[in-house]
Amino acid sequence: MDTIREPFLAPAPVPHTKPLGIMGFVWTASRNPIEIWGSRAYKEPWLRANWLRVPTVILNDPAAIRHCLVDNARNYVMQPLRQRVLRPMLRDGLLTAEGELWKRTRRALAPVFTPRNIEAMTPVMAARSASFADGLAARTGARTDIAFEMTLLTYDILQATLFSDDITGEPKEFARSMESFLARMGRVDPLDILDAPAFLPRINRMIGLRSTNYFRRLIAGTMERRAALLAERPEAAPADFLTLLLRSEGLSRSEIEDNIITFIGAGHETTARALGWTLYLLSQSPEERRKVEDELDAKLDALPDPAEWLTELPHTRAALEEAMRLYPPAPSLNRTALADDRFGEIDIPAGASLLVLPWLVHRHETHWDRPGHFLPERFMPGKREAIDRFQYMPFGIGPRVCIGSSFAMHEGVIALASLMRHLRFDYVGSAPPYPVQKITVQPRGGLPMRVTRR
Ligand code: HEM
Repeated sequence: MDTIREPFLAPAPVPHTKPLGIMGFVWTASRNPIEIWGSRAYKEPWLRANWLRVPTVILNDPAAIRHCLVDNARNYVMQPLRQRVLRPMLRDGLLTAEGELWKRTRRALAPVFTPRNIEAMTPVMAARSASFADGLAARTGARTDIAFEMTLLTYDILQATLFSDDITGEPKEFARSMESFLARMGRVDPLDILDAPAFLPRINRMIGLRSTNYFRRLIAGTMERRAALLAERPEAAPADFLTLLLRSEGLSRSEIEDNIITFIGAGHETTARALGWTLYLLSQSPEERRKVEDELDAKLDALPDPAEWLTELPHTRAALEEAMRLYPPAPSLNRTALADDRFGEIDIPAGASLLVLPWLVHRHETHWDRPGHFLPERFMPGKREAIDRFQYMPFGIGPRVCIGSSFAMHEGVIALASLMRHLRFDYVGSAPPYPVQKITVQPRGGLPMRVTRR
């Protein structure tokens, strides 16, 4: 007899019921901001708070989100806290640029991220993912931290599509300095939350900046060599991001460098988290995992071009999209209002913080049926069209929407398909993984899994 299993309830913090108090708030905000939210935050269309004397408006309502992030987007700038944390490392890169610089950079980068250019990178994504799967296959049966492994895989794909392995200096040294850069990039210091004066030292950031400077020198050297190659033998230059950026118009060398650092900062850990959570959720939902495995068994052999996988593997894609709903790798979009704004009954005074949190919107009780459960079905063709653009936004929305979203979606589906084609991943942690918001939503303690051949 067939039994219908309940869909899997994904682990998440239990919303608190009592106010946190000021010290509790600062402590929670610097330790795990997704624990700040009480149960109202998952029910109300919007909320107002006064955090450290700054009026703060949190939007969950799709129409209000549309108003602030699209229709009246000009009224909102990136929040100073986010800029304080990210700008020392990412400088004039697209993620931290504002005003005219942002406009010029976005215009210059648009031709780099065309569907044609991204599709041309998919064979590299597939080759790197397949050899990574081979490496895991050699270690079957052992307990492996898949959260960490996924950062290695997305690092490998990113450096291959950025530089085609053509890195100045020793590759291990490069990997080490990049690791240190990434480990420190997004750390929010309690001093930042309290808006303490800039002269008070943020130790983490100081160490982080030292490794970023080293890392920048390596990238600058790689760029020099590639520019020389493009001048002498352009036909020999690989079709990667570096070549596309050097051929683009409107960016200086140092701006290209800032954007390469930005792509690494914005595109590496985010994609790794999406992959790790998808493998975890599938491991807890044997029926969903079976649908993906059956799809790969039935279709992959007849799909030699990996650029087609994103559209031709709907179950694999739906699992990835549902995992990014439950664990949005970038869980919060933070803005500051320049002038007074109003939408319906919502007043947003000049200087207020505006927060749109995919974490909340994606788990909101009025937008979703069984919001905490893993139900990839919602994202299958035929159903997916009913999901409002402003209720599901793992890549943000409006003019500052992720420029790498198509790259990330291709990469995510290709990596999952390559890993799950011959392997199976089972979670072996003694307790469910607990989500923690650093800059991404990551599993505390990693994702211990056992990999077997299937
Ligand atoms: C699953 C993977 C990814 C997720 C979930 C993600 C998410 C996001 C989100 C939510 C934003 C908007 C932030 C805001 O409005 O405050 C963003 C912006 C951005 N992302 Fe991604 N991203 C991913 C992968 C990538 C990749 C692979 C790249 C580059 C190769 C990239 C580069 C950027 C850049 C440069 C921006 C800034 C865009 C702008 O401000 O104009 N991202 N991303």
